[in-house]
Amino acid sequence: MSQKTIPVQSAHDHSHEGERMCMSRRQFLLTGGAAVAVISLGSFPGMAEAAQALKAEYPRQKIGSLSALKTGVPVEFNFPYPDVRNILVKLGVPAGAGIGSDKDIVAFNQQCTHMGGPLDGTYKPQHQVLGPCPLHLTTFDLTRHGMVASGHATESLPQIMLEVQGDDIYAVGVMGLVYGYGAMTTKRSA
Ligand code: FES
Repeated sequence: MSQKTIPVQSAHDHSHEGERMCMSRRQFLLTGGAAVAVISLGSFPGMAEAAQALKAEYPRQKIGSLSALKTGVPVEFNFPYPDVRNILVKLGVPAGAGIGSDKDIVAFNQQCTHMGGPLDGTYKPQHQVLGPCPLHLTTFDLTRHGMVASGHATESLPQIMLEVQGDDIYAVGVMGLVYGYGAMTTKRSA
């Protein structure tokens, strides 16, 4: 099945950001009906405002293995498209939507939701956060679905949804909108 990306702007062109976000969300909802679902995130008490989120499913992709992961050492991967950068990491503490026997393995996109700043290489294992963003210092809490811990961003970091099959770890979807992309939805193959 063909996939269509809608790259909207570079990290240096923010003149139409509000309009872009409105269109992106509208397109996301209108075009992703078959692939986007409202799901419950009841993993953490006290997160009523985050209890629902948009989830887009994609063809599953193997991104690592349980036996190879080391606590606090992130592994980079691209998903759902070759230019979308993410990390897979075993936090060492339970996390929202975490997988594995300790529920501590999660994956997140590495583009800041504020203005697309690169979060590559900013994981802090002692605090289980990604950041601070080099542009305006936002930091994201990876134990709580990528919620903003501090800084300018208002949207959580997109969380990559994971599944385990045997020792293999698969990316199967994205929860939230990746910065710079609009309706990047497609129906996951069975
Ligand atoms: S782009 Fe990351 S905080 Fe502004």
